[in-house]
Amino acid sequence: MGTVTTTTSGLDGIVVADTRLSDVDGEAGRLTVAGYDVEALALTHGFEEVCRLLWSAAGLGAAPLQDLPARLGAARQEAFALLPRLGSALSAEDGMSALRTSMGHIEASGPLSVDQAIRVTGAVATFAAAWAAQRAGRPVVAPNPALSHATDYLRMIRGEAPSPALSKALDAYLVTVADHGMNASTFTTRVVISTGSDLVSAIVAGLGALKGPLHGGAPGPVLDMLEAVGQPDRAVAWLEGELVAGRRIMGMGHRIYRVRDPRAAVLEGAIERLEKAGVRTGRLELARAVEHAAEQVLSRRHPDRPLRANVEFYTAVLLDTLGLDRAAFTPTFAVGRVAGWCAHAFEQAATGRLIRPASRYTGVIPEVANRVEARG
Ligand code: COA
Repeated sequence: MGTVTTTTSGLDGIVVADTRLSDVDGEAGRLTVAGYDVEALALTHGFEEVCRLLWSAAGLGAAPLQDLPARLGAARQEAFALLPRLGSALSAEDGMSALRTSMGHIEASGPLSVDQAIRVTGAVATFAAAWAAQRAGRPVVAPNPALSHATDYLRMIRGEAPSPALSKALDAYLVTVADHGMNASTFTTRVVISTGSDLVSAIVAGLGALKGPLHGGAPGPVLDMLEAVGQPDRAVAWLEGELVAGRRIMGMGHRIYRVRDPRAAVLEGAIERLEKAGVRTGRLELARAVEHAAEQVLSRRHPDRPLRANVEFYTAVLLDTLGLDRAAFTPTFAVGRVAGWCAHAFEQAATGRLIRPASRYTGVIPEVANRVEARG
């Protein structure tokens, strides 16, 4: 383990919290999660272990975090038993809307606890998989608590048991996206917890923030883009057409990173390992060509602003290879990120401090002479 350090996550961001959970170095392209570089973490740890790392870094002792795989399995079962009581929540066309409404049905009473974190983490996976199965017209599959979280999620969402190579790739994805500094949805979650509200409300708010295309909603459109481009030699013309039409290139650019998002390389590596294991990935070569073309086109358009691939670019290729429908990409992001949201909730709650940022008023202030007295 390295040395304890103090850095500011976000070049020009306002610091709203001290955190031991993760750090984003946008100049160096380095993501540290609970003391590990994300590249190492994704190769050496499974999702449950990262939950344990994050939640214990958030100040919970080791004892309440024992038996996490089994307890998460039980939480998936508990959420599955709730399905008949979700009303029309899972019929929503959009997966994040379905997830947001379903999660509102989770019991939220009592003080913030590890049991609650396990409950919401199990529920996000179970509801996301149930929504995807229902949307595809397949029977909703019950969880198997004996399996790892990644394997069981993939089994439920695909309707069949995945190979070890596919499970491992999804596990690497969930670990890679589990936490990422003070991003929009994490900040949202912390704000809600800071008011003294409950964990379910905070997670529902986080889901709302993650849903947007500038945050977690980009990987589906990245796949649309790869399909629209079709072949490498058409990439430059297609991308230039998008910019001329005033649209952004999805999966490119980041508020913090001024170099390639390190998570893009982690996910690209996971796709390469799938290829080596004999899984046909289909779109890797095209994705690389489109990324290269997008870098060229964007650097001509914004010579002073490095716009490189972010996590969503290779998320699209990886999750597509794992057999997920593009509509399930953002809900699957939430399956991983909920671990970070819970950790931030614990850390924020421990401060006991309300987050109350300031705004700059640019409207009119009445002249003192024109003030209307409230009385008399
Ligand atoms: N495609 C085209 N232009 C882009 C761009 C993209 N992906 N990302 C940024 N730009 C341009 C902006 O249009 C802006 O140009 P302008 O100064 O001429 O108006 C300039 O670069 C700076 O953009 P800004 O909006 O200030 O950057 P930001 O830090 O707010 O943007 C994102 C960060 C992620 C919102 C942005 O890069 C984006 O929209 N990317 C696409 C969506 C995406 O992949 N989201 C997932 C993020 S993990």
